[in-house]
Amino acid sequence: MPGAIYAEGLVKTFGKVRALDGVDLDVPEGTVLGLLGPNGAGKTTAVRVLTTLLRPDRGSAVVAGIDVLKHPDEVRRSIGLSGQFAAVDEYLTGRENLTMVGQLYQMSGRDAKARATELLERFHLADAGDRPAKTYSGGMRRRLDLAAALVVSPPVMFMDEPTTGLDPRNRQQLWEVIQELVAGGTTLLLTTQYLEEADHLAHDICVVDHGKVIARGTSDQLKARTGGERVEVVVHAAEHIGTADEVLRGFGKGESKIEQHTRKITVPVTGGAKLLAEVIRELDARGVEIDDIGLRRPTLDDVFISLTGHAAEAAESGGEAGDADGGAGSGRASRSARRASKRAPETEESAK
Ligand SMILES: Nc1ncnc2c1ncn2[C@@H]1O[C@H](COP(=O)(O)OP(=O)(O)OP(=O)(O)O)[C@@H](O)[C@H]1O
Ligand SMILES: [Mg+2]
Repeated sequence: MPGAIYAEGLVKTFGKVRALDGVDLDVPEGTVLGLLGPNGAGKTTAVRVLTTLLRPDRGSAVVAGIDVLKHPDEVRRSIGLSGQFAAVDEYLTGRENLTMVGQLYQMSGRDAKARATELLERFHLADAGDRPAKTYSGGMRRRLDLAAALVVSPPVMFMDEPTTGLDPRNRQQLWEVIQELVAGGTTLLLTTQYLEEADHLAHDICVVDHGKVIARGTSDQLKARTGGERVEVVVHAAEHIGTADEVLRGFGKGESKIEQHTRKITVPVTGGAKLLAEVIRELDARGVEIDDIGLRRPTLDDVFISLTGHAAEAAESGGEAGDADGGAGSGRASRSARRASKRAPETEESAK
């Protein structure tokens, strides 16, 4: 059975740019898919197609069991969207923004107000709740935008780079909110450039680059595919570096690397934790005192570099322009989606 978010062969071109070049997705109900990729990879375009705001040139998509191309209005009633750029009404206060969204979703005035108060607290905006949103900092606007996306709890949510621009504390808090949502049964597609975020939140990860899914799997599967497990040892005294290096090379599956100034020796291995115990015993037997030892698994950054040949944050040229274009679109988009139940917006077409 297809999942709560399902797409097959999505293609979307803007002039010569193939923003989506045959994307397939399948997100089981109640899980989080992390769509991970550098600037211009096609993440926002995918979100816009799946949230009915942009028609693909080819392919099909089903969200919450409803055909996105055939019944966009129905899809809009079943989803929540927080776009890449906060879409709040600057001249309304935070509280008014949230209350308005509730009323657009046909809540009574009283329920909408109560929900607004609850969300202002949850997103640490209670003190600023009665100030116009134009006086908010970037991080506050982003939080208000996310709160607005959560006024009603739709079964399927899309969040386009939800934590970009948030400080570490707010990012951590948002992660908790997301985890609670998902524990409550919500299906979430989240885009991010933060490998750590996908690692932390997503059940499954799709790595996209140039409009194509270049890898998919759980964080562990992606890391295992990259290989790159290694043992790192920091010896207590510089004179033990040589002996420790000998020991590590005995266990290693490749060249060892020595950093003299930090007294750190690293060697690629296979065999995991069991091997680590043996290394420790051997170092001990040879009288090497150690300050630190660990089995390092590859990070998603390593995964990305091994898949694409470049780091995730390295923007391709032209990505900036796409960001501006796609950004304005996604900002408008998220407001429209929220107004869905009152007034279904026209499907927004690509900038010609
Ligand atoms: N409305 C548009 N008109 C023309 N080109 C566009 C438009 N929207 C997106 N693109 C192009 O499509 C490609 C994918 O853009 P998209 O916004 O989906 O990337 P993204 O992965 O969301 O990037 P970012 O991390 O910067 O948000 C880019 O090359 C971009 O320039
Ligand atoms: Mg984007």
